[in-house]
Amino acid sequence: MKIAVACDHGGLKLKNVLVDDLKQQGFEVKDFGTHNEESCDYPDYASLAAKAVASKECDLGVVVCGTGIGVSIVCNKVNGIRCALVHDVFSAKATKAHNNTNMIAMGQRVIGEGLALEVLNAWLHTEYEGGRHDLRIEKMMALEEE
Ligand code: RB5
Repeated sequence: MKIAVACDHGGLKLKNVLVDDLKQQGFEVKDFGTHNEESCDYPDYASLAAKAVASKECDLGVVVCGTGIGVSIVCNKVNGIRCALVHDVFSAKATKAHNNTNMIAMGQRVIGEGLALEVLNAWLHTEYEGGRHDLRIEKMMALEEE
């Protein structure tokens, strides 16, 4: 499975922690940057990761900024993306099981590294439940056609 990752300067340290964990687990990681702590614009990087997921070049995506809010908004503007901003394990599991999210966002200034790793792995290792959620997701995605 190939995971797209991206961050801005406010999310660099946490992104690197998450990337190390993903690689250790054997996931293929495509890192769209940024790669240093120089101030930059999060849409430039988050959009690349989102487009890679939307085009199926990558299976899932993880984006990080200071709050996680900016990158999550950017990703959700790309057609085909369902990106959840999550900072707790319950929501991480629920958003894969119910929303079948293909991306998650986190904020380095919000969450500690230990919990961020738990959130990431809870999300990655939870399966979408399907069933009654299919129609809800269909309705959600139909909004992209309006
Ligand atoms: C950068 O200072 C900060 O605005 C950014 O990382 C993010 O939190 C935006 O939503």
